[in-house]
Amino acid sequence: MEHFIINGGKALSGKIRVQGSKNGALPVLAAAVLVKGQCIIHNCPYLTDVDAAVEILKYLGCTVKRESSTLTIDSGTINRYDIPEVLMREMRSSIVFMGSVLGRTGKARMCAPGGCEIGLRPIDLHLSSLETLGVCITNRMGVLECEAPNGIIGAEITLSFPSVGATENIMLASAVSKGTTTVTNAAREPEIDCLADFLNSCGADIHICGDGRVVINGVSSLHGTEHTVLPDRIAAATFVSAAAATNGDILLQSVRPEHLKTVLSVFSDAGSEIEAYGDTIRIKGRGRLRMLRGVRTMPYPGFPTDAQAPVMAAACLADGTSIIVENIFESRFKHAPGLIKMGAKIKIEDRVAVIDGVERLYGARVEATDLRGGSALAVAGFAAQGTTRIYNIHHIDRGYEKFENSFASLGADIIRKSD
Ligand code: EPZ
Repeated sequence: MEHFIINGGKALSGKIRVQGSKNGALPVLAAAVLVKGQCIIHNCPYLTDVDAAVEILKYLGCTVKRESSTLTIDSGTINRYDIPEVLMREMRSSIVFMGSVLGRTGKARMCAPGGCEIGLRPIDLHLSSLETLGVCITNRMGVLECEAPNGIIGAEITLSFPSVGATENIMLASAVSKGTTTVTNAAREPEIDCLADFLNSCGADIHICGDGRVVINGVSSLHGTEHTVLPDRIAAATFVSAAAATNGDILLQSVRPEHLKTVLSVFSDAGSEIEAYGDTIRIKGRGRLRMLRGVRTMPYPGFPTDAQAPVMAAACLADGTSIIVENIFESRFKHAPGLIKMGAKIKIEDRVAVIDGVERLYGARVEATDLRGGSALAVAGFAAQGTTRIYNIHHIDRGYEKFENSFASLGADIIRKSD
């Protein structure tokens, strides 16, 4: 195991290129299973979650080669439809392989992904949607046996919640199918558009209608393609939070500003100077942040739940009281105790966090509890006086590429050490 040692109190400044999106890359890697041929995927970040997806692809019979940030996947020969628990457990989002394995083989056997960290992470919407598409699913002691005896058959599906994963699973299962599938109340995250772009470049016929409807006209097969993963809007939001928390001046490059509008407006409203143009964002602190307003997490295009934790870290130092409402996951404030240990004043009532800003935070020994919670502790550590040690940083490595190198290039005093 490893931990970070951060000596805080320095304003971060400089330029950083934003990594490819974890949540954009993972469903595309799962989608490669559908393709009888070779897919070249550019801008694939170096993340342990991406490594886990590659292990699943190899287990299923694909060959995968990485050259820098480009993955070349050949899924001409898929010779299995089961994914062992040890691979499923590596990351929660392995559940989206269910749709693509079913779409390719007509069968799938995998365990339900684990829960907790940030919530129970149920998959009822995934399973009910696949059943509507003609899949028979039996739960045998936690192992889901799935089979589409007559193949995947297009249907009308209305999601009770615009679940990102369930939307992706429906697209993956029905891209190669008979008939048309129409999804109402589908997720509208940019990663959904990215997945549709990938599938359509392979010969699928998917239309994102923009009003939460997705129409998938099933095709008979998909061919290879070349695709570039979109920038990671949450990694970008994390850099923005760190710049705001340390009163720094950071230029983000290779980013899509329109994908994190709600985050930028929160910090602009709180006094940061923000310029967004083309594929760059510049955020400059102008002294102490004012209290943050309007941080209520919602499905896209609302405030992203994944940015809630690093934004809370910045709110800890604001002048005034900030309120954060977490509407998406039921236990996504696990970073609060670590922030409190560093001197933050935070009260949690169910899904509401009340943060009374303090003048200064102090370095402490803290533990990452989940991916974004870990990044929040680091953001606080960059701003705190003194030394912060963050343990369990494997959580951070799941979603941030070369975390310490990125922030060190912005002037942060951060090193990785083995425990
Ligand atoms: C994706 O998770 C992201 N992960 C999450 O990012 C992100 O927080 C989430 O979408 C919301 O934006 C990936 O893309 C790999 P959901 P997902 O299905 O698909 C409930 C990160 O930090 N729900 O939209 O699991 C669920 O409990 C990660 O990068 C059901 O009730 O999210 C939650 O309350 C964390 N039944 C809400 O919907 C279901 O069948 C949103 O879940 C599915 C979901």
